Amino acid sequence: MIFDDLRAIQLRYGFLPKAELEAFSQRSNTPLYQIHSVASFYPHFHLTPPPKADVRVCADMSCHLNGACELRSELERRLAKSSAADVQIRDVSCLGRCDQAPAVSINDEIFTSVTAASVETMARNAILGKEVLEPHPGHGPVRCASDPYSQGEKYGVVRKLAATKDWEGVLAELKESELRGMGGAGFPASTKWDLVRRQPGTEKYIVCNADESEPGTIKDRFIMTHLPHLVIEGMIVAGLVTGAKRGILYIRHEYRLQEEILGEELRRCHHEGLLGKNILKSDAAFDLEIFVSPGGYICGEESALIEAIEGRRAEPRNKPPFPGQAGLWQKPTVINNVETFANVPQILAHGVEWYKTQGKTGSRGLKFVGVSGHAAKPGVFEVPMGTPMREIIFQHAGGIRGGRQLKAFAPSGPSSGYLPASMVDVRLDFKTLADAGSMLGSGAIVVCDDTTCMLDMALNAVRFYRNESCGKCVPCRVGSQKLTDLLVRWTRGGLAEKQYRADLALIDELCQAMSLTSICGLGQIVPAPIQSVLKHFREEVEAHVLKGRCPSGICFTPAARAGEAQRVGIRP
Ligand SMILES: Cc1cc2nc3c(=O)[nH]c(=O)nc-3n(C[C@H](O)[C@H](O)[C@H](O)COP(=O)(O)O)c2cc1C
Ligand code: SF4
Ligand code: FES
Repeated sequence: MIFDDLRAIQLRYGFLPKAELEAFSQRSNTPLYQIHSVASFYPHFHLTPPPKADVRVCADMSCHLNGACELRSELERRLAKSSAADVQIRDVSCLGRCDQAPAVSINDEIFTSVTAASVETMARNAILGKEVLEPHPGHGPVRCASDPYSQGEKYGVVRKLAATKDWEGVLAELKESELRGMGGAGFPASTKWDLVRRQPGTEKYIVCNADESEPGTIKDRFIMTHLPHLVIEGMIVAGLVTGAKRGILYIRHEYRLQEEILGEELRRCHHEGLLGKNILKSDAAFDLEIFVSPGGYICGEESALIEAIEGRRAEPRNKPPFPGQAGLWQKPTVINNVETFANVPQILAHGVEWYKTQGKTGSRGLKFVGVSGHAAKPGVFEVPMGTPMREIIFQHAGGIRGGRQLKAFAPSGPSSGYLPASMVDVRLDFKTLADAGSMLGSGAIVVCDDTTCMLDMALNAVRFYRNESCGKCVPCRVGSQKLTDLLVRWTRGGLAEKQYRADLALIDELCQAMSLTSICGLGQIVPAPIQSVLKHFREEVEAHVLKGRCPSGICFTPAARAGEAQRVGIRP
């Protein structure tokens, strides 16, 4: 695989020297342009020698709300006298540690809840050639209501299924449970599985999407840490039911601890005969491997993820055909989110009636949500589907830090847009949140207190999409940059009313074009943050644009003005 070779070269030289890429091209009989197109796409690879201290400050929602901008400015001040060969300070997209913001990476090692002083010390150590290693926290057992095996032997569902071979029964139960995808789109899981089961041929695949790179999204990290056996069991069941013999768990490279935990669990499964050519002597075969992502939010889009596994740039495919018909290596493929797979053994072990009663007010099942931003006790919580946001934010996550007031919250990171505090009684549920003009998404609740500037937050979210757009299609590539430029101008104020009205009309047109014509969900969702802010916080926007005043005192500062120039070109 191309990534293995590129990683080996980078491990040896610290980057990908041109001569090495040429030698690799000859050795593997792969055109150099093809190798270069891959190497230049992924943030994990460096085409030029990195500095001794490559410092990257997470710039996204949760870290932004926790002083990332100030942290970066202060680091630049403290390290101003160092040469570019010694240190470089840049922004980076969400590192998957949103509950421990602000987060930074130094030479690809991740550090959380940092201060300028602690980062400066580590950067100076790296400049001196000392190894700077990320902490390896313990992960003691956490009891989860959704774990059917907290008391006894694991993998009971696979054991039973290997004996009964009642594949149709599994599909019927999943259908009755109405289990929906937990990765964002909420597509019924049984429909996908059934489609793949009915496809002719024997070469089929099961893929678990553990890319989890949207700002605020940290629940899969928790599930893989504490319930790895449920994820793996869900994948084995999917393999048995659909006839797929091979599974791939695609995990973001910043989740090294979870990769280790899953690797250990896979070894145990092989040892116990739960994976392999003859599962529990049933004649059924299914094996599973881990694929570490070379990075980038777009890799989480299912067809881009497939392209990455196949060794190409992670650019989404046009659909149809959907992965259920032509997925990995053009073969029928089930792709589900970590939490979706983890739900399967729960439903099959406890029964559909149990699953139905776990939710509140008509919603079904339990849900893991991440809460970050200005929450007093950020973290991941397991709650009944249908729980009011108020309960999640004020009881589970301890309310607003410093006793301040709630101003707004994003039910699921940038893609859900922002809702005002007056809507905090909305319930955590697919339909309820959609009716509220938002979405359940991946359950990434980001909380903003009353010091937050919502125009600044809209800009932050749109900038994230601009940075992460893969660039394959024009509406998203150009539209996300246009929207960013427009919002930067708005945060600088001083526009005539006529110009503001023209900008609003342009935003409408842009948003419509992007939603209708972008190839994938990234381009389609770019408008959500600014549309929600215009809907719920229009007065605040107009104070900026027409009166040159940021009610929260965040925009119009020299630091905010300098920001955009530094932030363009976050990808290497
Ligand atoms: C830009 C983008 C990023 C995505 N990232 C993820 C991700 O990290 N994890 C995930 O499960 N789904 C992600 N999705 C959704 C996947 O495309 C796909 O719908 C999902 O993995 C299907 O699993 P589910 O039906 O179990 O939710 C993303 C979609 C888009 C457009
Ligand atoms: S919508 Fe954006 S991310 Fe998706 S394919 Fe087009 S350019 Fe790439
Ligand atoms: S780690 Fe910074 S937003 Fe997720």
